[in-house]
Amino acid sequence: MQINLQRLLVAAGAVAIAATASPFVPFEQKPLIGELHRPETSDVGETASRKLTGKFLHITDFHLDRFYVPGSLTDEDNVCHHGKRKGNAGYLGTPGSECDSPELLINQTFGWIKENLRDEVDFVIWTGDSARHDNDERIPRTENQIEELNQDIANKFIQTFSHSSTHPDETLIIPIIPNIGNNDIMPHNIFKKGPNRWTKTLSQIWEAFIPEAQRHTFVEGGYFYTEVIPNKLAVFSLNTLYFYDSNQAVDGCAQKSQPGYHQMEWLRVQLQLLRERDMKAILMGHVPPARSADKQAWDETCWQKYTLWLQQYRDVVVGGLYGHMNIDHFMFQDSKDIDLQYLLPEEHMSPFVAENNYENFTIESKGSYLTSLRDLWADLPTPPASVLEDWSISDVDEDAGVAKKKRKGKKKEKEKKEKFYKKIGGKYAERFSLSLVSPSVVPNYYPTLRVIEYDITEMEKVPTWADVQHDKAGKKDEQWVDREIEIQKKSKKSPIPDPPSKSAPPGPAYSRQPLTLLNIAQYYANITKEEGIKGVVAANDGVDDESSPKGLRVNYGVEYHTNKDDIYRLDDLTVRSIYNLATRIGAGDKASSLPTETEDDYTEIDEIKADQFEDESDIGSTKKNNTTKKKRKYKTNKTWKAFAERAFVGFLAYDEIEDKL
Ligand SMILES: *[C@@H]1O[C@H](CO)[C@@H](O)[C@H](O)[C@H]1NC(C)=O
Ligand SMILES: *[C@@H]1O[C@H](CO)[C@@H](O)[C@H](O)[C@H]1NC(C)=O
Ligand SMILES: *[C@@H]1O[C@H](CO)[C@@H](O)[C@H](O)[C@H]1NC(C)=O
Ligand SMILES: *[C@@H]1O[C@H](CO)[C@@H](O)[C@H](O)[C@H]1NC(C)=O
Ligand SMILES: *[C@@H]1O[C@H](CO)[C@@H](O)[C@H](O)[C@H]1NC(C)=O
Ligand SMILES: *[C@@H]1O[C@H](CO)[C@@H](O)[C@H](O)[C@H]1NC(C)=O
Repeated sequence: MQINLQRLLVAAGAVAIAATASPFVPFEQKPLIGELHRPETSDVGETASRKLTGKFLHITDFHLDRFYVPGSLTDEDNVCHHGKRKGNAGYLGTPGSECDSPELLINQTFGWIKENLRDEVDFVIWTGDSARHDNDERIPRTENQIEELNQDIANKFIQTFSHSSTHPDETLIIPIIPNIGNNDIMPHNIFKKGPNRWTKTLSQIWEAFIPEAQRHTFVEGGYFYTEVIPNKLAVFSLNTLYFYDSNQAVDGCAQKSQPGYHQMEWLRVQLQLLRERDMKAILMGHVPPARSADKQAWDETCWQKYTLWLQQYRDVVVGGLYGHMNIDHFMFQDSKDIDLQYLLPEEHMSPFVAENNYENFTIESKGSYLTSLRDLWADLPTPPASVLEDWSISDVDEDAGVAKKKRKGKKKEKEKKEKFYKKIGGKYAERFSLSLVSPSVVPNYYPTLRVIEYDITEMEKVPTWADVQHDKAGKKDEQWVDREIEIQKKSKKSPIPDPPSKSAPPGPAYSRQPLTLLNIAQYYANITKEEGIKGVVAANDGVDDESSPKGLRVNYGVEYHTNKDDIYRLDDLTVRSIYNLATRIGAGDKASSLPTETEDDYTEIDEIKADQFEDESDIGSTKKNNTTKKKRKYKTNKTWKAFAERAFVGFLAYDEIEDKL
């Protein structure tokens, strides 16, 4: 412990030196990116095949299964593979089961996307798990099968989003960003340090998606980024399998021998580079950084670094988008949980959750996970009415009027407001960063996908990804190649990335501006209804699994819009909007009139002093492993109920979920 403590102090000292010696003031010396990067041709704006639409598709967890047999048994021993004509596996999939997706569902989903979204979105975020699960001992998966399934889904994207569907070799009309899921490899969950078989194979299968300049990085580590709006917005496809707690082949992000460590270093350098280029980033990956009282998806050292990086690059990161969990929800990374001791190499750190039943993710365990999130959010300070006014969040219920009347004098109100802001990291809630998790295409509940709207103000004329592809550009500017090397060198010296410059305005995740995420339109297809109309599976006799019943159509419709919705009523998806939603879920509605919890004030990372760690008794015992249940006064639970029902894509009514909480 002594040695580590010393090392930490040395490390922290290095930070201080590095910070003061920083020669670069990104926000005061904005390079003329536009000048430097505009492609040679001057009329790019006019020749652009299409303009930005301000929307993108997030789709995840297809789990295509070629052994799926309609009319077979759906229990966990048969998983829609066995017992032909004995069960009621649907043609389009079997909601409420552990079965994977029949090809018909996948084909029709792409058909629907082609008809309805192809020309409406600017890029596609595809967060992995194309292949079926390894859930049937009688039909073990093979490496070839997994490759084929990955290839099939990749082809479907190309066919759907290329200029000509008859010539699939034609170039893509928009960028598609794939990601490696824990079932896209074999054995599932186990992903060794690269280069390995899977990074090599997937780099070929995803040739159309991974920018040429990034291919080497991908083969090394399984991660890359694409400038989806050149010189404005990059999407980072993170290899979350190196962070994933269930990957027994690696060990976290603290030690230099680990691929997770190198990925974090890479991410940090790239985010710094984007800051200097005045660009923004969306981070995406398969396994989300889930961390609550009973679930922890990432190794704690990786979670710690990620949370620290997002805190320090809060001016750059637009948001994090994930899949894997199959339930619709979101989570915060709370910078108050950052514990710098986790940056120490070679230290075995205890996990946040002692007994993690993460792999057994049944409806019951999902219910208890959602409850654990609610408990976390119930502990957050709730915004007083004056803050909601500041945030121009219209008070969500009639009770607010009462709260307004109760306010005693302006001075007191101002104090209350300032106290609240102090707790949440200022008026933009910069204490937190946000991860949005999309539910899946595989119909554990209903098949679903989401279209996210983002702000494209003042970007009507910027060259698009397709324009740049045309010019065979996309190569990094020499100037930035050199700068990247400098940043790499500098990063090696200090374990903590530089925060935004003091003069930097809040980033797009925190205050509305170009690239801020605005709305989620969550779509789902009620395949129960489709199947019911045709009456095919109910009348199981004579089901012919070789041919699909004619006329059976997967039709996606809107489940909810976060902005037009009666319950969520989110003007945008900034952290503070979602924060307010989380407190409504946590403390119950009419939260604005509840007393706020007493909590430690939030401290900026920049202010964390090394001497904070001098008292040894603090080390190793500063984190609470579980949330202690407090007695709370809930009012109405309207928002929580909607959140819980939406988590399961409307497949279960709240009463059915409640039974399992
Ligand atoms: C799905 O599409 C592929 C190619 O587009 C086709 O070969 C296959 O037969 C289709 N499958 C079903 C079940 O419709
Ligand atoms: C998951 O459940 C199975 C059977 O229900 C059990 O054998 C296994 O130990 C469980 N795994 C974990 C990690 O809890
Ligand atoms: C889906 O369709 C079934 C059958 O028509 C219906 O009972 C159910 O309420 C529908 N669910 C949703 C969420 O649309
Ligand atoms: C968290 O739980 C683990 C396992 O029970 C334990 O070893 C560890 O000391 C706990 N950590 C803290 C900070 O209490
Ligand atoms: C959670 O914390 C409480 C109070 O500190 C403690 O009594 C309990 O044993 C803890 N539970 C687990 C599972 O660690
Ligand atoms: C809201 O939920 C809490 C916790 O589950 C429960 O104790 C309370 O009775 C609920 N309130 C209402 C009005 O349903």
